[in-house]
Amino acid sequence: MVLLVVSWPMSGTDTGIDCANCWIEIDRAALISNVQQLKAMLDPPSRFMAVVKANAYGHGMAEVAAIALRAGADWLGVFSPGEGLALRQAGMDTPILVFGPTPAVQLRDVLRADLRVTVASMQAAKAVASAAALTGAAAIHLKVETGTNRQGLTPEEITPATRLLAESGVRVEGIYTHFADIEDTTDHSFALAQLARFRDILARFAEDGWTVSVPHTACSAATLLFPSTHFNLVRVGIALYGLWPSKETYVSAKSLGRNAIALKPVMTWKTRIAQIKAVDAGEFVGYGRTFRVTRPSCLAVLPVGYADGYDRRLSNLSHVLINGKRAPVRGRICMNLTMVDITDIPEAAVNDPVVLLGQQGEEAVTAEDLARLAGTINYEIVTRAAPHAPRVIVG
Ligand SMILES: Cc1ncc(COP(=O)(O)O)c(C=O)c1O
Repeated sequence: MVLLVVSWPMSGTDTGIDCANCWIEIDRAALISNVQQLKAMLDPPSRFMAVVKANAYGHGMAEVAAIALRAGADWLGVFSPGEGLALRQAGMDTPILVFGPTPAVQLRDVLRADLRVTVASMQAAKAVASAAALTGAAAIHLKVETGTNRQGLTPEEITPATRLLAESGVRVEGIYTHFADIEDTTDHSFALAQLARFRDILARFAEDGWTVSVPHTACSAATLLFPSTHFNLVRVGIALYGLWPSKETYVSAKSLGRNAIALKPVMTWKTRIAQIKAVDAGEFVGYGRTFRVTRPSCLAVLPVGYADGYDRRLSNLSHVLINGKRAPVRGRICMNLTMVDITDIPEAAVNDPVVLLGQQGEEAVTAEDLARLAGTINYEIVTRAAPHAPRVIVG
């Protein structure tokens, strides 16, 4: 196995993961396979955007972006202008769309770096128009409201915004929208109604004499389920990382005969046993004494806690993997430490690797397992995993 340590400030005595309390391994082969399989679902002229916002859903933005581009991604999607500028500084010259708002003070730098700004309000259109008057030509994407009521120009605002932008030499390269209810349900009538509204908006745009080369709507669920949403670009996040957007999406894909894709989880989150201690029957474990051992037990203390994104709601619920066996979390997860029961793993030793999320031997702890136990979604589990820990590319 090849290990390449990335995103890790090396200083003093740091030697990478040897000094880290926990770390995240990125499976390069899995990521490449996901990009290639997802791309294979598209027909020309549809292109593939790797959504790498939020540190590539916790996987490490620059590293994921570089691998995804080499695997065939055509575009990158980020939330903030800072993320886009960081990718440019890392040498990526591919088209990059900024989904979130771009503050007026950043607009000139962003346009000069040829990042595609999202214009989702008249105010944003005015700000981009005045910045472009200074920087020269720019290409932007209009985000239009079709029912999510999050970001988006109303249908009535689209023509005035486009006119204002055109007067300042700004080209509307893309028009896009985002589905409100495509992942969490097997009833896609609302999403399809949004799609119909989007098509009306495109038709009206053309009737008004404007042209747009990159209309787009599809997130992972739409990409997996509905080719009619693909248009000229799909914006894929969670599936890129080898995760289905939800159980409902998987069930829908199965009923549509579109589940042949074998998504491979990309992230493995690891730590090591810091200490092993024997505990007598009747002793309590951790803050609040929420767990009491009923037999003489052996606990492993792990140097990872909720400050690292190991969610406190997993206290007394989740398992970790040690030597390919499941070790249950005992007591409350602390800020920096977690205790697990290794009574049934007698061979476990200090410094042994521990899998918090991922596969070890025949066993796996999935993002979906942790999400179910913590009352959240797989997106949140991976995105919040160990934000300050090193990301290591394996394979
Ligand atoms: C505008 C936009 N497009 C695409 C995505 C990717 O969504 P998914 O991770 O479900 O593919 C997101 C994620 O939130 C988004 O905000």
